Amino acid sequence: MLVHKISEVKEKIKEWNGLKIGLVPTMGALHEGHLSLIKKAKETCDKVVVSIFVNPIQFGPSEDYDKYPRTLENDMELCNKERVDLVFAPSPSEMYGENIRLSNDNLTYVCPPFFYVNKLCGKSRVGHFDGVCTVVLKLFNIVQPDCAFFGQKDAQQVIIIKKMVKDLNVPVQIIQCPIVREESGLALSSRNKYLSENGKKEALVLSQILNNIKACYKKGITDIEALKETAYSYLTDKHELEYLEILDKNTLEENQNANENSIALIACRVENVRLIDNIYLGEI
Ligand code: PAJ
Repeated sequence: MLVHKISEVKEKIKEWNGLKIGLVPTMGALHEGHLSLIKKAKETCDKVVVSIFVNPIQFGPSEDYDKYPRTLENDMELCNKERVDLVFAPSPSEMYGENIRLSNDNLTYVCPPFFYVNKLCGKSRVGHFDGVCTVVLKLFNIVQPDCAFFGQKDAQQVIIIKKMVKDLNVPVQIIQCPIVREESGLALSSRNKYLSENGKKEALVLSQILNNIKACYKKGITDIEALKETAYSYLTDKHELEYLEILDKNTLEENQNANENSIALIACRVENVRLIDNIYLGEI
């Protein structure tokens, strides 16, 4: 069932009083990565809500908000196949009000801690995680789920959301799900649609670099600079590396040496498409 209004969601969840509700927040253009979250939610909850909302306040002025893929019909087919109980696809004005200038002059924003945002994706995408946390908290308040499902693909996002939930005592359990990849190793992403066939091949470098770092760590190399240096042999003029970091997987703190809690994270542009990926160096 598809609804566009907050009031319709509220009506539905009233009917579900006492049942365990799972929420899978998405921006649509659903692929197997999203579906893995939905499947996990179906396994663990009585009712599953999927939100589909390309959230304007998490895109910077020069980012791809306008051209972000919007494929609601196809998304609905996939959700129906997975027996999703409710799809909530609001308009921007339903979420933020009519004629509201989307800035913190007019809107209350959730502002995650500087330590968590001033690195990785947050460094180039200033304000991005304020927009993410704000919309996710709104969705939590609208749907009032018991559990919410997020992908490891966006590692910094799920860490920041867990931090928000803890710091603001939000009564939602955050469930983190592993990265779904193509057989080639490429992490699934709605933005892969922007890549040419050749670009997709070039994009394999991200997972190759991460796998190689993990292999080197397993062989006993722990010096972070040495591990990072192993990436350079993979990069060509087709790749514009934005960052490659090895940090603590829970706190995003920097260490001098990698350990079982380390995560390697990469952002790289291929054909001007910004791609991200990450890998745990220790056992999960
Ligand atoms: P979106 O990019 O649509 O992703 C929705 C969820 O799917 C996120 O939790 C993301 O980590 C997960 N996901 C994407 N690709 C995945 C993959 N290959 N494997 C596993 N999970 C994957 O992330 C957002 O939307 C937005 O920021 C949102 C949280 C909805 C707030 O607007």
